[in-house]
Amino acid sequence: MGFFPYLTFICMLNFHLFQTIASDTPDGSTLQTYIVHVDGPDGLPNRLDDLDSWYDTFLSTFTAASGERRRMIYSYHNVFKGFAARLSADELKAMENKVGFVSAHPERKLSLHTTHSPNFLGLNQNMGFWNESNYGKGVIIGVLDTGIFPDHPSFSDKGMPPPPAKWKGKCDFNVTTKCNNKLIGARYFNSFDGPIDDNGHGTHTASTAAGNFVRGANVFGNANGTAVGIAPLAHLAIYKVCSVSCSESDILAAMDAAIDDGVDILSLSLGGFANNFYDDSIALGAYSAMEKVVVQ
Ligand SMILES: *[C@@H]1O[C@H](CO)[C@@H](O)[C@H](O)[C@H]1NC(C)=O
Ligand SMILES: *[C@@H]1O[C@H](CO)[C@@H](O)[C@H](O)[C@H]1NC(C)=O
Ligand SMILES: *[C@@H]1O[C@H](CO)[C@@H](O)[C@H](O)[C@H]1NC(C)=O
Repeated sequence: MGFFPYLTFICMLNFHLFQTIASDTPDGSTLQTYIVHVDGPDGLPNRLDDLDSWYDTFLSTFTAASGERRRMIYSYHNVFKGFAARLSADELKAMENKVGFVSAHPERKLSLHTTHSPNFLGLNQNMGFWNESNYGKGVIIGVLDTGIFPDHPSFSDKGMPPPPAKWKGKCDFNVTTKCNNKLIGARYFNSFDGPIDDNGHGTHTASTAAGNFVRGANVFGNANGTAVGIAPLAHLAIYKVCSVSCSESDILAAMDAAIDDGVDILSLSLGGFANNFYDDSIALGAYSAMEKVVVQ
């Protein structure tokens, strides 16, 4: 029999390597995007313009004459010294002999797997378990994390019914911010002066768990679509217990309060305690919560 002392929403970015993408030049040679690392033997130029000009010198000999698309795709200043550029195999060979060249590798295409969690769980739109579960309608999810950005569109209460009558939680935002039928509670514990998220992690986990449907979500026009949490009709009760780290005493106080408040599910996306359950106060708190019929 499976026993899950607590449930965590863990967001993982699993990088997958795909084929690199090549394109052809008018003269028939194949161009490929390379990530090139460089370093100056006598130190690097200080000014960004000078750095960019120096990067350009790695390309100039074989790209100056042609009327082709620009070969330099990005010049990097902070992640490392180097650039991304479209090169043929011969051009790369020539570049390897230049003073300052360190290394180059063909660009890899990475894919994010975060948004595939619903597929992994076998949840499909308009049919099957996701639909039959009623999208979490009537369920209260308590999120112990870094707090919340209450104005985020994922926490709109459009289409949300009022919280169940059993709800006894509090909304401790300041006067200008109110709870709504999605965000039904917001509390904070020692060493914080409000439930506002100062980090982003709590907003991320809360919207992953129960974010409302947000149409037209995109990043600079990419991946335009509908963003939605796993349980878009569930209510959210926020317990701020973390900023960059989370104190055990605050976590336990929040779990304690959440049980009183009437949450149905606790979501904790934090860890670091010992492996042994007997040494792990979250596991112990979760066990008590489970005894009080809070699933975690
Ligand atoms: C989704 O579930 C509702 C009941 O919860 C049902 O009436 C409806 O037919 C379902 N939709 C599909 C496409 O199965
Ligand atoms: C109240 O909270 C909002 C964020 O929701 C914040 O911008 C504002 O500064 C806060 N006001 C006070 C007086 O703390
Ligand atoms: C996103 O898609 C919607 C619907 O197709 C469209 O109305 C909107 O303009 C798109 N937004 C962007 C930034 O592409």
